[in-house]
This record gives sequence, structure tokens and C-alpha cells, in this order.
Amino acid sequence: VGDEPGRQDRRRRRAQSLDQRAAARRWALAERAAHDVTLVGSGTVLADDPLLTRRGRDAERPNLRVVLDRRLRTPPGARLFGEAGEVVLYTDSAGASRDPARVSELQAAGAQVVILPAVSPSMVLSELHARGVRSVLVEGGATVAASFVHAGLYDRVAAVCAPKLLGGASAPGPLATALVEDPNEAPRVERLRVRRAGEDLILEGLRSGCSADLFSAVAES
Ligand SMILES: NC(=O)c1ccc[n+]([C@@H]2O[C@H](COP(=O)([O-])OP(=O)(O)OC[C@H]3O[C@@H](n4cnc5c(N)ncnc54)[C@H](OP(=O)(O)O)[C@@H]3O)[C@@H](O)[C@H]2O)c1
Repeated sequence: VGDEPGRQDRRRRRAQSLDQRAAARRWALAERAAHDVTLVGSGTVLADDPLLTRRGRDAERPNLRVVLDRRLRTPPGARLFGEAGEVVLYTDSAGASRDPARVSELQAAGAQVVILPAVSPSMVLSELHARGVRSVLVEGGATVAASFVHAGLYDRVAAVCAPKLLGGASAPGPLATALVEDPNEAPRVERLRVRRAGEDLILEGLRSGCSADLFSAVAES
């Protein structure tokens, strides 16, 4: 991973069947060890109350945990504050001024509350880069994932498939927002490869042009 903002290695994941949580969890634990940052949206914190920590022999290495949270919905009692290691919560001035008491509560819980002009992928990545971060795992959920894909600010995508068939017309998809109307215009991944991890299948692909997009997004914002 290089040293310029655009070389941050943002792995994106897609966990597709509905044993997705277990398969995604196995995958995420392996991926967290390979990145400087594990990033989620406030929706994931509210739904899952995750620790976002590394496990096993990687547990001791520093892992910055990041939550994107404009409305400051992250509960000060969230489990991620109970674990050793930094937690950065990005919000904007509207969120911070709406509820200063909440900011204080989150800070008392151990969060570093950082107010950005906008909680956009480009602003977040720029701020992280200034901290020395060079690789970010965008772990989810689907709203935040769609936001990074829409901004074009990712350079690796992974889809995790568990060997289980679970139907459901309303099963959640990996990206919450439709990106294009015309499938011909959908962003493509390149150099697709498939690998096994235990019982799970992992599809991974790269996207070219991330560095250029990040530089121009930061310049415009
Ligand atoms: N299977 C998997 O692989 C996987 C992985 C992770 C999560 N999940 C699941 O995903 C679900 C949660 O997903 P979700 O889509 O509801 O929540 P999410 O993507 O984790 O968080 C969405 C929230 O993030 C905040 N946010 C701040 N900046 C944002 C930005 N630039 N773009 C988008 N959002 C931004 C928004 O709230 P504000 O407007 O208040 O900022 C938004 O409502 C849970 O059920 C969880 O279990 C699944």
C-alpha cells in the first residue's frame, strides 16, 4: 500500500447469502488484521453493537475503529467503547451542535468525536490519511458501502458467500442505494478472482482509478 491518499487500500465486502452474518464475520476478522482501520456506519453499531476489534494473535496490534455518525446515534454504552483501542466518530457541525451533551457523553465513553465539514467518504479518507492511515476496511453496512462505491472511493471489493440457500424477497442487499439505472453503466470490478476460506467462497476484484478519483474528490470538497 502506497503513501498517497489514493493508495489507501479500501476493501469493500459483500456478504451475500443470509448466512451472511456468520460468513461475513469470519471474513471480517481476517480482513481487520490486514488494515489500519475498520470502518462502519452508525446503522451497524445500532443493529449489531459490534466490537470491531481484532482477535487472536493480531489482537494486540493497534486497530483504529471508525464510525460515521452525523446524527450521533451511537450509544455511549456501545460495546466498542469497552475494548482497548481508539474509536473515532466522524460527525458534522449540525450533528455536534444539535446535541452537545451527547458529544460529551461519547467523549466520556472514550470516543474521539471529529467534526468534519461533511461526513463524506472523501473527507473521511483525507482525515484518516492525515493520521497516517494507509488502508481502510469498509466493513458495512449497506448504506455506508453504497456511499463509498458511489463516490468511487474503493479499490478492492470482496463478496463473501456462505454455502447456504436462504430465500426472501426482502433479503438485504450489499449496497443500500441504487447506483445506476442502466446496468451497462454499473461500476465494474477488474481482475476478479475466487478463493475458498473454509466452507465460504470469497470473490474479490479490484477497481482501477481510485487514486485519481480521491484526489479530485478532495480537491472539489
Ligand atoms: N453482512 C454484512 O456483511 C454486514 C456488514 C456490516 C453490517 N451489516 C448489517 O447492515 C445493517 C446496517 O446497515 P445500514 O445500511 O442500516 O447502516 P450503516 O451503513 O452501517 O450505517 C448507515 C448510517 O451511517 C451514517 N452515515 C454517516 N455518514 C455516511 C455516509 N457518508 N454515507 C452513508 N451513511 C453515512 C448515516 O446516519 P447519519 O445520517 O446519522 O450519519 C446512515 O444512516 C445491520 O443490520 C448490520 O447487521 C451487514
